[in-house]
Amino acid sequence: MSDPVLLGDWHAVSQSDALRVGQVLGATVLDEAVVVWRDSAGVAHAFRDRCPHRGAKLSLGCVRDGLALQCPYHGWRFDGAGRCVVMPAQPGQDAPEKFSAQTLPLVEAWGLVWVALCATPAPVPVPVMPEVDDDYALVVDGPYEVATSGPRAVENFLDMAHFPFIHSGSLGAEPYTQIADYPVELSADGVRATGCKVWQPQTTLVAERGTETAYTYWVPRPLRALLTKEPGAKGEKPSDVIMLAATPVSEVHTQIWFVMAMTYAKGQPAQPFRDFQHTIFMQDKAVLESQRPQRLPLDPMAECHQRADRLSLTYRRWLAQLGLRYGVIPLA
Ligand code: FES
Ligand SMILES: [Fe+2]
Repeated sequence: MSDPVLLGDWHAVSQSDALRVGQVLGATVLDEAVVVWRDSAGVAHAFRDRCPHRGAKLSLGCVRDGLALQCPYHGWRFDGAGRCVVMPAQPGQDAPEKFSAQTLPLVEAWGLVWVALCATPAPVPVPVMPEVDDDYALVVDGPYEVATSGPRAVENFLDMAHFPFIHSGSLGAEPYTQIADYPVELSADGVRATGCKVWQPQTTLVAERGTETAYTYWVPRPLRALLTKEPGAKGEKPSDVIMLAATPVSEVHTQIWFVMAMTYAKGQPAQPFRDFQHTIFMQDKAVLESQRPQRLPLDPMAECHQRADRLSLTYRRWLAQLGLRYGVIPLA
């Protein structure tokens, strides 16, 4: 199913560090096969993962001469612009334009390689993390494979009422289950909720005691969301900004990536922060994969809602307004 909202959006397909010079990686986004590769100048490229000759997967090939992706089947080579520059079975002959691989837009930002599936209309702006500057250490984590839709996974990221049950002892604990009302705003740049308060026994890896934490959530795109811990004092920076990016492999299979920006992680090894996130997300994954239907129902009458669900309800309303169809059960 082609979804115009998501086709033009940026989808994370690899950590930048995992796509080394000379490396070729296959990925699936919106049921479409994509190949990304990095040339010897360090520039990453994305193509549709299909050779124009006989349809073989280019991701089974390799980088040749540093600057061309070679098809595994008959060895045709494609430069970064997708042009076929070598046909080994007829050396010395120029390939016509039609023999080109289909290029896709690619950007690298926040330690991730992002691709878009259509060149026109122009892709939406490159992912941003507005508060994050040099005072933060970035830790990139993922992908986590989850057997559910992208919108179900995003909604889980926006949900605080599950903390005392799914993340008991870390992000929440009984009897601190009540969620106070919080304001939610829907505007041209997405959904925002502020002052979302919850009591957390261990809010981060380095927290030494329980504390009441206040979050701000911002959902700038249907499958991307940011959580910012509100600073304790005026003028202080938020200690944590966490971006979740959900890459829709199919309607009901999603890859989750996290970019964690932390003031307190400067100069620290990254792995313990990844391990903490891994523990948290494995707790989410079990419940996420149990939810039925897997696609998120956009009809407000479809499931039952409590007051704490204002953010997720607004998110559903926004997806319906945008006309999202992929990974959701649209309004009748
Ligand atoms: S299928 Fe790619 S070169 Fe023949
Ligand atoms: Fe969770």
